[in-house]
Amino acid sequence: MSKEEKKPFRQSMAEWRQFIYNPRSGELLGRTAKSWGLILLFYLVFYGFLAALFTFTMWVMLQTLSSDIPKYRDRISSPGLMISPKPVNALEFAFNKSDSRSYETYTASLRNFLASYNDSKQSRNVVCTSGQLFEQKEDLGKKACRFNRTQLGPCSGLEDENFGYAKGTPCVLVKMNRIIGLKPEGEPYIQCFSKVSTVLLSYWGKKSSNLFEEEGKVQITYFPAGGTIDLMYFPYYGKKLHAHYLQPLVAVQLAINSNSTKEEITIECKILGSPNLKNEDDRDKFLGRISFKVQMSD
Ligand SMILES: *[C@@H]1O[C@H](CO)[C@@H](O)[C@H](O)[C@H]1NC(C)=O
Ligand SMILES: *[C@@H]1O[C@H](CO)[C@@H](O)[C@H](O)[C@H]1NC(C)=O
Ligand SMILES: *[C@@H]1O[C@H](CO)[C@@H](O)[C@H](O)[C@H]1NC(C)=O
Ligand SMILES: *[C@@H]1O[C@H](CO)[C@@H](O)[C@H](O)[C@H]1NC(C)=O
Repeated sequence: MSKEEKKPFRQSMAEWRQFIYNPRSGELLGRTAKSWGLILLFYLVFYGFLAALFTFTMWVMLQTLSSDIPKYRDRISSPGLMISPKPVNALEFAFNKSDSRSYETYTASLRNFLASYNDSKQSRNVVCTSGQLFEQKEDLGKKACRFNRTQLGPCSGLEDENFGYAKGTPCVLVKMNRIIGLKPEGEPYIQCFSKVSTVLLSYWGKKSSNLFEEEGKVQITYFPAGGTIDLMYFPYYGKKLHAHYLQPLVAVQLAINSNSTKEEITIECKILGSPNLKNEDDRDKFLGRISFKVQMSD
């Protein structure tokens, strides 16, 4: 047993009280007011310095970051293709050209999508020089190039509000996904190929579809002509800087031969003419290409 524990309770309490506050030396918890003051001052300076260092480092780092463009990117990826309207089930269009209810969702979706290309929205955008990239140096408020809906011809929805669906010449818009900083090379254009699939019954009774290309069953017309995607719509600077940006569109109008109704037509569209836009990736079937099916009845 130690010595202290033998002390009477009263004495040990007095020692404690003296430790907490010693009236003779003026010490509080074993230190004088001056000593406490110095300790407090030291920690104040110490933590103040740490906080300042942290704030400064953070500030320096934030200066080097842009809120729109990721700082570390090894390469600019190649864009995917998408279509509008986008059928709910697996990019398969099925409609009856004599029944407006059967294609209503497609035309409504096109009208809705193209509303942002209306003249009223375009008037704040600038007229750009066709055929060359529109690079902008100013940091604030990048300008967007006009894309006139009339370029989409009969697929613009301005003359034919059914986008050809009622006449058996349905329109589908093909667009390239937005990729910040992408500068396509060459002269990119969209080209589509059609395949007509006929369901055959093979001799052992198993259903199999046979894909083959057949001339004359589907005629494909492009708007703007040749399916060109003008370079003036690139590069894209991101949602924040490039608020009014509109993607260039290519409308594909399919004239389906009335002899081919009830047959399922597969259309594959690809981006061609540009060396840095990929379209043959085995793992990504949307990279630079898209395929969809159309089945029309009357
Ligand atoms: C298409 O719609 C018309 C008019 O509603 C109808 O007479 C015809 O049978 C429909 N065709 C098919 C294949 O459903
Ligand atoms: C766009 O224009 C079409 C046809 O001129 C019109 O029906 C539609 O309401 C317009 N949409 C917007 C959002 O201005
Ligand atoms: C789009 O083109 C049409 C016909 O060329 C023209 O009347 C219209 O003013 C153009 N709109 C814009 C926003 O340039
Ligand atoms: C469509 O079918 C009809 C009769 O079967 C035939 O006379 C005509 O040549 C066909 N049209 C085409 C473009 O194949």
